[in-house]
Amino acid sequence: MDVTVATLLRMAGTRLADASSTPRLDAEILLAHVLQISRSQLFAHPEQRVADKQLRLFALLVVARHKGRPVAYLTGQRDFWSLSLKVTPATLIPRPETEVLVEQALRHVPVGARWYLLDLGTGSGAIALALAKERPHCMVTAVDVSNPALEAARENAKSLGLQNVEFLQGDWFAPVAGRRYSLIASNPPYVPDTDPHLNAGDLRFEPRRALTGGPDGLAAIRKIALRAPAHLEPGGVLALEHGYDQAAGVRGLLAAAGFGELQTFRDLAGIERVTTGRFAD
Ligand SMILES: C[S@@+](CC[C@H](N)C(=O)[O-])C[C@H]1O[C@@H](n2cnc3c(N)ncnc32)[C@H](O)[C@@H]1O
Repeated sequence: MDVTVATLLRMAGTRLADASSTPRLDAEILLAHVLQISRSQLFAHPEQRVADKQLRLFALLVVARHKGRPVAYLTGQRDFWSLSLKVTPATLIPRPETEVLVEQALRHVPVGARWYLLDLGTGSGAIALALAKERPHCMVTAVDVSNPALEAARENAKSLGLQNVEFLQGDWFAPVAGRRYSLIASNPPYVPDTDPHLNAGDLRFEPRRALTGGPDGLAAIRKIALRAPAHLEPGGVLALEHGYDQAAGVRGLLAAAGFGELQTFRDLAGIERVTTGRFAD
């Protein structure tokens, strides 16, 4: 069969219309992935003919996407901050709202500072690698309980050429016993166990351990808030991502753990998404 890029995008967009809120975009990302070109190259050459082998692979990906599989797991890649990251079904797919956490964390770390920074629950390494890239004089420690996630994170550090980051396996602060940091950032699991969103969209395919935070979603945040003071330098900052309705709860937990200067920041959708606090000691 002799099919052009334009025809394929049209057909795939129609096929995905009932399965995705962004059918055309999904089709473009998948086809660009199969052809190993950028989306702008797709737009520049809509008349390009697609070989049979690539056509078959594209058809398989469209069927998988139609069944709900996240685009990022199909391509194995996701852009975050200024980084292109490898993602696998063992890692959460980094979200744009987590860039707010990176942005706010960076505000507390002067350019040129030679500080130690900690990312708890690093997944693909998104936060740790963005911090390591933006603050090359800092040393970033990234912790995750999942070995397969850490494998992906290590690969990402290597392919990005970032050497000021180390990866440790374990339960929250366990691998960094006795160490103190100037800043701790975390996007921990915070979805309540019975939240119906867990059965919809990309979340169905992501690791439960990366998503759920107990009956009220705050189990991990509670632990991190309580234990963080023992791992912060005096005046150190804790920056947490949280759920859309958890900001007041998180501020309460941070205040109870001794944090001051509490501030909450909204994501691009206007939702309270990130809370920071300083531990004065
Ligand atoms: C919401 S994901 C965040 C991933 C990544 N930081 C991001 O923003 O894309 C939460 C991460 O916490 C990790 N995690 C869950 N429980 C943990 C624990 N007890 N100790 C350390 N990491 C944990 C999960 O494996 C997952 O990678």
